[in-house]
Amino acid sequence: MRIIPAFAAPLALTLSCAFVSGAFAQGSGTPVTAASPDGSIVVSVSVDTDGRPTYTLTRKGKLLVGASSLGFIVADGPTMVRGNRITGSETASGQQTWEQPWGERRFVNDNHNDLLVKFEQVPEWGSRRMNVRFRLFNDGFGLRYELPEQPTMKTMKIADELTEFALTQNGTAWWIPGGEWNRYEQVYQKSAIDGVSTAHTPITMKLEDGTHLAIHEAALVDYSAMWLKRVTGTTFRSTLSPSPNGPKVVRDLPFKTPWRTIRIADSAKGLVENDLELNLNEPNKLGDVSWFKPMKYIGIWWGMIRGDWSWAEGPKHGATTARTRQYIDFAAKNGFGGVLVEGWDKGWNGNWFGNGKEFSYTQATPDFDLEAVTKYAAKKGVQLIGHHETGGNIANYEAQLEDAMKLYDKLGVRAVKTGYVADAGGILAPGDTPDTYRMEYHDGQRQVQHHLKVVETAARYHIAINAHEPVKDTGLRRTYPNWIDREGARGMEYNAWGQFANGPDHEPTLVYTRMLSGPMDYTPGILSLEGANKVPLASTLAKQLGLYLALYSPIQMAADFIENLEAHPKELAFIKQVPADWAESHLIAGEVGDYAIFARKDRNSEDWYVGGVNDATARSLSLTLEFLDPSKTYTATIWKDGEGATYETDARHRIAYQTLTLKKGDVLPAWLAPGGGLAVRLHPAK
Ligand code: NOJ
Ligand code: CA
Repeated sequence: MRIIPAFAAPLALTLSCAFVSGAFAQGSGTPVTAASPDGSIVVSVSVDTDGRPTYTLTRKGKLLVGASSLGFIVADGPTMVRGNRITGSETASGQQTWEQPWGERRFVNDNHNDLLVKFEQVPEWGSRRMNVRFRLFNDGFGLRYELPEQPTMKTMKIADELTEFALTQNGTAWWIPGGEWNRYEQVYQKSAIDGVSTAHTPITMKLEDGTHLAIHEAALVDYSAMWLKRVTGTTFRSTLSPSPNGPKVVRDLPFKTPWRTIRIADSAKGLVENDLELNLNEPNKLGDVSWFKPMKYIGIWWGMIRGDWSWAEGPKHGATTARTRQYIDFAAKNGFGGVLVEGWDKGWNGNWFGNGKEFSYTQATPDFDLEAVTKYAAKKGVQLIGHHETGGNIANYEAQLEDAMKLYDKLGVRAVKTGYVADAGGILAPGDTPDTYRMEYHDGQRQVQHHLKVVETAARYHIAINAHEPVKDTGLRRTYPNWIDREGARGMEYNAWGQFANGPDHEPTLVYTRMLSGPMDYTPGILSLEGANKVPLASTLAKQLGLYLALYSPIQMAADFIENLEAHPKELAFIKQVPADWAESHLIAGEVGDYAIFARKDRNSEDWYVGGVNDATARSLSLTLEFLDPSKTYTATIWKDGEGATYETDARHRIAYQTLTLKKGDVLPAWLAPGGGLAVRLHPAK
């Protein structure tokens, strides 16, 4: 017999009762189970001898996730972990194909089975009820808590969520640490799974038996982001991003938590060609969003990142009317849809890094004529890409949000890049004014609420949002398609600040980690292969082109100075042609952290594109063109690493060009240099 000790809860509530071992398991009978549509993935749900809700996951008959408990620590009552019994369960299933307005693929298949299990704590533990919905796909799994209305809890104050993932095998993990000062802008670590500490999601793993997993979340709305904490061996537990106000999440009942998700596949390809989180989000709430069109853009930006120009007013000011006209001319001439201009507004002259109370979102600096440049852009068929840096002061931004969006709408701006630069977020807490400053994490409940407020407000003005220093993507672009993009990882900009700052492994790792969460505005296209003080990039020239195929974004930048783009006419020709919207995307060769070659079909033509990025190991690939239309032959224009190219020396600039005639089933040999890449356009021959 086991005695459950009385717990010290803030409420005047003591436990006098002892629970008999096995009582809960007996009370709820045999485990409740459900399987994925093809039967390969099976979840089994029960309560353990202490009444903890527990699930296991098997795949192809093998235990993948061992007994893992579920529940919460609440700030003002007994924990919602022990003392549960199962009071009922329901099953359901769903099958549909839905269409994305833009994306890596036009059509997404959703085929799943659901199991809803209802838990209720015995009176001694507070009689609280929680339902857990499990959803099984052939290539993944999700679970979420659904908290129903109930007499003993009107508002739930979550001190932490205790969702476990007890992996049954060790293996390799690719991850970045959760809760660090630099948000998500970290170099990925590769370690044994049992060497992970606390990680952001998605975290990608390759188990000893070769199974590939990515643990993440979907539909993060009005809740704090989940970090994964390794508790022992290969067992992980959720821990939520903290809040300065005590509980990590405060919600009135009823509500549903985000989904906790695991993509499951035999290969890296199966992880990448997987729409689990999108399928776990609500359908488009905005209706027609054709006012935004996927595009490529340039910007008055890299010059500030390198330090040649400044965001602040003065002799080096980047955002001048004259320079913006020059960039608009270049965009118009070369078919770029937009020009991003940072530092156009008042507020940059002080310590804007983490002190954003100075920012105005409606007043331009004297040397930047906002009306004139937007008019000029419209005349040339180009859009200004708006910019709102907040310095993390979201109270100041929210106070001006409506006016800011109204102004941009009036001027025909259809996309805005936002920014939240500040250590660890530096976000203001509710109730604070623009003059006060209190630490909030960039991925806590308050900031999650803020982002959605910005996205919903922008949507009313037909404006799309591309957030820098954001909260991670959890598939919300399905529900709010105008949340087109985020940076939200270590982007190209780091290469301006140090030699090989993003090492050769970085982008081939992003493909299988950060990119699983959604599009990224990586800002590729540094054709000079140079940052500030001529520091070289860990990239060949061909890799800069391969990035457009490796890292999906509906708004793809050509980030270099326009003079440097112009100095590379053949590479610029590729950037001009490559689409930012795809009918289909397939990973045709690749391994996590090593290399990634995609085949993607243009959404607006019959063209296919093949290419991607490599790490530091040179490799020779044979790419089978299985995906091409059998009734067509294609002219292949190829940009590839030149002989002897390597990121390590000046040979990084060596590129070779080739034109071939190819058809379905042909094999295209490809040599990838150390730090190299590849870009191929396949256009149906006449
Ligand atoms: C910091 C970001 O890293 C950079 O890309 C951006 O230009 C500045 N903030 C200003 O928003
Ligand atoms: Ca590698």
